[in-house]
Amino acid sequence: MAAIAEAATLIRAGECVAVPTETVYGLAADATESRAVAGIYAAKGRPSFNPLIVHVPDLAAAERIAEFDERARDLAERFWPGPLTLVLPLRADAGIASLVTAGLDTIAIRVPRHRAMQALLEASGKPLAAPSANASGSISPTRAEHVAKSLAGRIPLVIDDGATPAGVESTIVMGNRILRPGPLSAEQLFPGEGRGADLDSEAGPRPSPGKEAGIVAPGQLDSHYAPSKPVRLNATEAQGGEYLIGFGPIPGVETLSAIGDLTEAAANLFDALHRADASDAPAIAVAPIPETGIGVAINDRLRRAAY
Ligand code: TXA
Ligand code: MG
Repeated sequence: MAAIAEAATLIRAGECVAVPTETVYGLAADATESRAVAGIYAAKGRPSFNPLIVHVPDLAAAERIAEFDERARDLAERFWPGPLTLVLPLRADAGIASLVTAGLDTIAIRVPRHRAMQALLEASGKPLAAPSANASGSISPTRAEHVAKSLAGRIPLVIDDGATPAGVESTIVMGNRILRPGPLSAEQLFPGEGRGADLDSEAGPRPSPGKEAGIVAPGQLDSHYAPSKPVRLNATEAQGGEYLIGFGPIPGVETLSAIGDLTEAAANLFDALHRADASDAPAIAVAPIPETGIGVAINDRLRRAAY
């Protein structure tokens, strides 16, 4: 793919490039160069206290950057490459720009599965810091068009490889806690630990309005993924000209999944929000989504979109 070679050249020159992963499109830059990483924060308008995820080609590369214990290695072996991010102690000799971790002594790291991101990792030969490729706080991008719209004029290249398959950001795990729900559920990650989908709540009750979810996941702001108009959740019908996003078979209404499949719904979620946002409707309403499996991640994103 010619676009990959061009992207790798830009990365090596310290630029940032948008590239699809299996979750959402990421805005990638060389994680070892502070100026390259600063370019990510500038393009997104992201506060620099919110650290980034570093992407590497395989577990061996990850072990050169982070300290793995037995639990982390087991998770990595089971779910990498894939939509799992591990927060681990940062190695002193990792060579990662301190702007990536916002000065923390831990690092968020993952091995992506998507062919475009894997190809870019190989062609650039660099660990790549990459947040979602959208302006900070707005709806995450699952298509190249979403990136182009959100970051128009701010980045030199978007690698277009179609819609991203999972559609919501990676599950972030620290120790035995889920810091951000994602495509991999608590049941999949920690089978038999008996806490099921509630594992997330170990971090305590959901934060009250105005507060953040503690210091462990500094970027998990209450308001995020936000369209430019109000979002109403658990809606059973459209009111006052709302754009209704359904779930399950709802005749005549756009639905995240006609057959009520949560994986399909997650893949369609951000695209539906982008289209609802671009519509003439004054507000958005979303049908109830079951709080199981990847539904936990869908509801997490919807709550922040509605906040
Ligand atoms: O699927 C994904 O994870 C996508 C693709 C592009 O890989 N990336 C992504 O990055 O969602 P971003 O920057 O939008 O979200 C990263 C999250 C933020 O909530 C950030 O606060 C958290 O990871 N994070 C990063 N480093 C951390 C650390 N050391 N400790 C705790 N949370 C951390
Ligand atoms: Mg993001």
